[in-house]
Amino acid sequence: MQIHFAEQRPAGDYALVLPVRSDGDGVPEVLGADREAVAAAAKRQRFAGESGSTADAYLGADGGRRLLLVGIGDKTDVKAAEKLAGTAVARLLTSGETHAVIDLSGFDFAADAAARAALAAELRAWRYDRYRTRLKDKHKPTLARVTIVGGGKDAAALWKQRFAAVAAGVALTKELVTEPANIIYPESFVSRVKANAEGTGLEIEVLNGPAMAKLGMGALLGVAQGSVREPRLLVMRWNGGAKGEAPIALLGKGVTFDTGGISIKPALGMEAMKWDMGGAGAVAGAMKALAMRGAKANVIGVCGLVENMPDGNAQRPGDVVTTMSGQTVEVINTDAEGRLVLCDVMTWVQRTHKPRLMVDLATLTGAMVISLGHEYAGIFANDDELAGQLLAAGLDSGDLLWRQPLGEAYDRLIDSPIADMKNVGPREGGSITAAQFLQRFVEDGTPWAHLDIAGMAWSPKDKTTFSKGATGYGVRLLDQFVAGFEG
Ligand code: BES
Ligand code: MN
Ligand code: ZN
Repeated sequence: MQIHFAEQRPAGDYALVLPVRSDGDGVPEVLGADREAVAAAAKRQRFAGESGSTADAYLGADGGRRLLLVGIGDKTDVKAAEKLAGTAVARLLTSGETHAVIDLSGFDFAADAAARAALAAELRAWRYDRYRTRLKDKHKPTLARVTIVGGGKDAAALWKQRFAAVAAGVALTKELVTEPANIIYPESFVSRVKANAEGTGLEIEVLNGPAMAKLGMGALLGVAQGSVREPRLLVMRWNGGAKGEAPIALLGKGVTFDTGGISIKPALGMEAMKWDMGGAGAVAGAMKALAMRGAKANVIGVCGLVENMPDGNAQRPGDVVTTMSGQTVEVINTDAEGRLVLCDVMTWVQRTHKPRLMVDLATLTGAMVISLGHEYAGIFANDDELAGQLLAAGLDSGDLLWRQPLGEAYDRLIDSPIADMKNVGPREGGSITAAQFLQRFVEDGTPWAHLDIAGMAWSPKDKTTFSKGATGYGVRLLDQFVAGFEG
């Protein structure tokens, strides 16, 4: 999508998008002579400017210009701007229109709201048609250009310096999450990210199976051993901050397919487990965004990439593995594999890079989806300041978080009679015991937060910045979080 900003509406052919408040004078004055007729058309469609509602009309003597009215309720904040643009793009994407002009003139949208409208327009237009070889022309996207009018002088700069990069990062995450597991597996995940990192200044380092074995990553490798796909540890560095300053570490669960292993999952819905790499996808997308916009911070992104398969060589329930930390784990359930991957990633990043803090993202537990649904990811943290920074970044970015508890009594539930811990607790509080497991791998009081994004990586329905499917959750959150550490 080409995004433009302008002071005035351009000449030529385009669909005009106008916001309408629910508490104002109805159809905007900018319509001039057409205002009355449009107001009547809107009324006939029972349109009253409610947030996210729309009405159609056609302007000019020959009815030659499509007009789309989009309700914004009683707000002109960034959220309202995103909803306006996302709604408009969803309506016009395959409409036959090639250019949409969103005219904000006369509304008090600030520059950041106008830039966020551009972001939402770009995000909502994303789709992946690579495998649709028989798509009818009529169903193909036509909209190629969005112009935001009247957003103020700073909007274009904000878009260019910040949100265009964020949009590119979200697009990478959506692509990685959408691709099936025969296309994206540990090795190809790495090459896809490498191709995306070209020219951004991201430094990439990759560890293969033997290298991880040498480091003693017995938990991660135990998960990988049932698959013919070799595991990888993908390390992405962005050094935009002060030289030598300890980095912010972002860690991602990258299970490119989760069958459950020998503790195999039921067939119904198992195809969803292609997106069990959503945490790693979010970290890769965020690193791309941070590099593209030249973030003034040192950030290291690390993805633990494995495939969890049943096999003659797969690990068995009851196996005991030794993690890189030296702690041992009794693998009660091979389907609780995400924590086995992340624990070794946590140890590696702490011992190798001494980060100032670490945040992991993981589609870790079905229990998280049961408790928070698809509206909030859960955040577990050993540090209130870090939790507060992430919660605030969530509110700012729209990638929402809700804090969850940690505590000694939960930790007791994963004690094992044979090893230092077992990899599952009881069914009750399943997301919390998973987080307790990870907390056992935090060293030297490093501030740490775990984001369980199981309900957020994939959406069962369309929303403002995505259609049904991959959401790109986490990229905007991490971008905003890191922005809080920049000068
Ligand atoms: N990847 C799943 C969690 C998941 C489930 C994510 C549904 C998204 C939607 C994870 O590896 C898993 O299988 N967790 C188990 C843990 C259990 C065996 C303790 C679960 O949640 O059932
Ligand atoms: Mn699993
Ligand atoms: Zn999993």
